Formats: sequence, C-alpha cells, structure tokens
Amino acid sequence: MPYENPYIPKCREHPRIILSKEDYILHKWKWEKYFWNNDPLVLEIGTGMGNYFSYMLTKYTNKNFIGMELRYKRLYTTARKADEACEANSSKSPLAPSAVKRRLWFQSHEDNKRYLILQSYGQSVWDVFAQEELSEIYIYFPDPFCYKQKQLKHRLLSRDFLKNSFYCTKVWWVLHFKTDHKEYFEDTLQIVKELWLWVVQLVSYDYKNSDIYDREAITEFEGLFRGEQEDFYYLILEKK
Ligand SMILES: C[S@@+](CC[C@H](N)C(=O)[O-])C[C@H]1O[C@@H](n2cnc3c(N)ncnc32)[C@H](O)[C@@H]1O
Repeated sequence: MPYENPYIPKCREHPRIILSKEDYILHKWKWEKYFWNNDPLVLEIGTGMGNYFSYMLTKYTNKNFIGMELRYKRLYTTARKADEACEANSSKSPLAPSAVKRRLWFQSHEDNKRYLILQSYGQSVWDVFAQEELSEIYIYFPDPFCYKQKQLKHRLLSRDFLKNSFYCTKVWWVLHFKTDHKEYFEDTLQIVKELWLWVVQLVSYDYKNSDIYDREAITEFEGLFRGEQEDFYYLILEKK
C-alpha cells in the first residue's frame, strides 16, 4: 500500500489550519473581520514545531497570530501547541461578559482563539496580506539554502520578499530575523541597505549575550544548538 502521511487528514480536520491558498487569500484586506477585532496581527513564517508560535500566544493575549509552514506534521504540531496555549490562557482569565456575548453571535469564533495556521510559502506574503495589514513578522532560523549556488534563489529573505513584507507591514512596526547562518545574515543586511526601505533597528552578532535574549522564547531549532558555541545573529527591521 502506498504510504499516506497521517498528518494530512489531521490537518484537514483541524478548524484552525487552512491548506488551500484559494481559501486563505479570500481574507486578504479582511483579516480584521476574520478575527473580529483590530488588534495587531503578527505573522510567523516557518513555525516549525510551534514552540515560539505558542509562546507568543501565551504571552501576548491582545494580539492575533498567523503562522505559515509547509510540512504537515509541523503544521499540525503548531496548531496543537497553539490550542494548548489558548486553553491555558482561558483558564487563567475566563472570557469577559462582552466576549461571551460576541461568542454567541459569531459561531465561527466560538472557540475565541486568536490564531490561524496556513500551509503557505512565506514568499506569498503579498498574496495573503494587504498593504499595512501586518504589525509584526517573525522569521526564526529559515532554511539558508546555501549548499549550491543555484539554491540561493530559494531563500526566503530575498529582495522581493523584503519589499513585499515592507508594504504589508504597518508604519512603526517591525520584522524580526534570527539565524545561525552568518552568510545569510550578512546577505540580508546587504539587501536591506540597497533597498532603502526598512530602517535597521538592531543588528546583533551575539544574540545569546544581547539585551534582547529571551531564554523562555527558545525555538526547537535553537534548542538543538543552545549549549554549543554556535553564534546566533539577530536583526530587527522597522518601517518608518
Ligand atoms: C530550520 S526550520 C526552523 C523552524 C522554527 N522556526 C525553529 O526555529 O525551530 C525552518 C522551517 O521553515 C519551514 N519553511 C521552509 N521554507 C519555507 C517557506 N518558504 N515558507 C514557509 N515555511 C518554510 C520548514 O518547513 C521548517 O519547518
């Protein structure tokens, strides 16, 4: 019998995972309506197994979150961890009476969860979000595609991506990029300089010893190398 990935049906059945691009691009310009509030909308690209995504959901209960990922197991695991984070939040602070009312009115939001996971290439940010629809973008340890010269074109942080993500971000808001790949980091900085769009708010060649280091916010990938001497690089770009 041919192998069937057991995570495909799990993803299809999960109410907060959207697999088809045709379905999620319908929400472009209308994400406020989807979440039924105009709180900041945060995007994480390449959520992996969802540690950082669920950490954000726990920490920032007044924001909405969208995750983009490609692989089924990772999509599903991110959603599962996000559900646990939402449940922990609601047991800490039960819904206010106004939210209960809202829940009754809007069936689709009856679980009151502030997240959604899309099976999507980060490169399609402009297909999914309209101008100034996003507040923050997080990209942690994207695949560097560095093994052969011709693979470089697959890197997420390209000229086009940095332009498109700039247009989708609100003024005064930010893009975060963390990597262990020095060459990818420096190539990105070079593109940012040439583009003249984003303002560099922070460049760190030693994230683990920097002021912004957050030991609670460790991603799965980062956890693999944390004990080693590996350097992590961190960049924050701001739209002004
Ligand atoms: C090295 S892992 C890092 C995962 C997570 N951010 C972490 O730090 O543990 C890169 C992740 O990005 C996903 N990915 C790779 N290319 C992508 C793309 N173009 N768009 C969205 N996700 C992508 C991969 O499936 C993988 O889960």
